[in-house]
Amino acid sequence: MEALKGIRILDMTHVQAGPTCSQLLAWMGADVIKFEPPQGDATRGQLRDIPGADSLYFTMLNCNKRSITVNMKSAEGKTVFVDLLKHCDIVMENFGPGVLDRLGFTWEKIHEINPKIIMGSIKGFGSSGPYAEFKAYENVAQAMGGAMSTTGTPDGAPFVTGAQIGDSGTGLHLAIGLLAALNQANRTGQGQYVEVAMMDGVMNLCRVKFRDHQRLTRGGLSEYSVPTSQGMGDVPRAGNDSGGGQLGNAIHCKPHGPNDWIYVVVQEAVWAGLANRIGAELGLPELATDARFALIGDRRKNQNDMWGLITKFAANYTKREFMAILNPIDVPCGPIMSTTDLANDEHIRGREMYVELEDERRGKWWNVGMPIKLSASPAKIERAPFLGEHNDDVLMNVLGYDAAKVEAMKVAGAFSAPPKKA
Ligand SMILES: CC(C)(COP(=O)(O)OP(=O)(O)OC[C@H]1O[C@@H](n2cnc3c(N)ncnc32)[C@H](O)[C@@H]1OP(=O)(O)O)[C@@H](O)C(=O)NCCC(=O)NCCS
Repeated sequence: MEALKGIRILDMTHVQAGPTCSQLLAWMGADVIKFEPPQGDATRGQLRDIPGADSLYFTMLNCNKRSITVNMKSAEGKTVFVDLLKHCDIVMENFGPGVLDRLGFTWEKIHEINPKIIMGSIKGFGSSGPYAEFKAYENVAQAMGGAMSTTGTPDGAPFVTGAQIGDSGTGLHLAIGLLAALNQANRTGQGQYVEVAMMDGVMNLCRVKFRDHQRLTRGGLSEYSVPTSQGMGDVPRAGNDSGGGQLGNAIHCKPHGPNDWIYVVVQEAVWAGLANRIGAELGLPELATDARFALIGDRRKNQNDMWGLITKFAANYTKREFMAILNPIDVPCGPIMSTTDLANDEHIRGREMYVELEDERRGKWWNVGMPIKLSASPAKIERAPFLGEHNDDVLMNVLGYDAAKVEAMKVAGAFSAPPKKA
């Protein structure tokens, strides 16, 4: 049996942050009803690669859901919403600030309609504080949560990371909050409001940078390859430094293309083995006892020389060949995998982390699989719904409306596009 079987979610989320969360919960077995405005989640049409088909942006974030379209700006649409609230365990949204309140549905009102329902909200900056009224997208959250100021090199521009820590990262945080609230509601019979701000989520993922922020009041950061000193204030961008207690860096390999790199961690315990292996080939048989690198403190101080020697060695090997040298001597390392590498990777395929799907409009396509593996509840990934595909199904089978009622609501505008703003 699926872990969340029997849990029904009214999913008003759009774009990426919310849909990431509801897709994960759907993969765990929840019945997720994607509640869309009549024109649909904007991402259905964004970055479209096949005319007439929903974009990959949409399909990759909305698998295993049902879709219904409801015009919340009509009285009948609001009735459908209220009826659904009474039949769901969770309602979730990631609208801009105040949107649901303007539609007449504050958390207090929703709680009154169904005291056991849990409400999940993602906002850029939460519902309180000077930033509460601002909208946010991924890179805004990365900028304001500390990720950008600490990513890149000190002399260059701050960089965003390719991992969607502002959107998908926040969706993960919300999923954790919703599952905790669900557990509590099962014991108390009372729902609660679960809020995750994207800025907070990013800051949580930058926790070690705030470790370093405080360490800087007492001294430099010896593990950083870039200059640091007591009292310098801001944690600097540190390129590909490891960020942990062990030294690490990206090393360019043969044939020196953009992804011919490997990340190597020179764990304290493996230095002698690594030095013996590379030293022998570089004509430095004494490298393991070389005073510049003998102890961890020496290697920290002289790490740029150490990386230079490792890079010189790596020039004769591809990233995979270098990995094959490092694995037997226990040096933690990982080749930088391109999207092509990953899409074709045997390990990834075996773990069902890149899965093939098919639908009649798009044909075959691929989704990143379910990263959380439950032994008794394996995820079965199904295609994303077409816009409004389940209108009748949900109205009749979840809400028990008869055909005449559905028709009357249709005529009254419950499911058609709201008038344009003046
Ligand atoms: C993502 C974001 C910037 C998009 O902004 P936006 O396109 O202006 O959309 P908003 O969420 O602010 O507004 C949605 C509008 O659609 C309307 N709408 C939504 N569902 C509707 C429905 N079923 N029927 C009728 N209208 C609907 C809302 O009432 C609102 O209209 P209003 O502005 O007249 O109040 C914004 O939603 C946001 O900041 N969200 C919180 C943070 C977040 O999740 N960011 C995205 C991460 S991927």
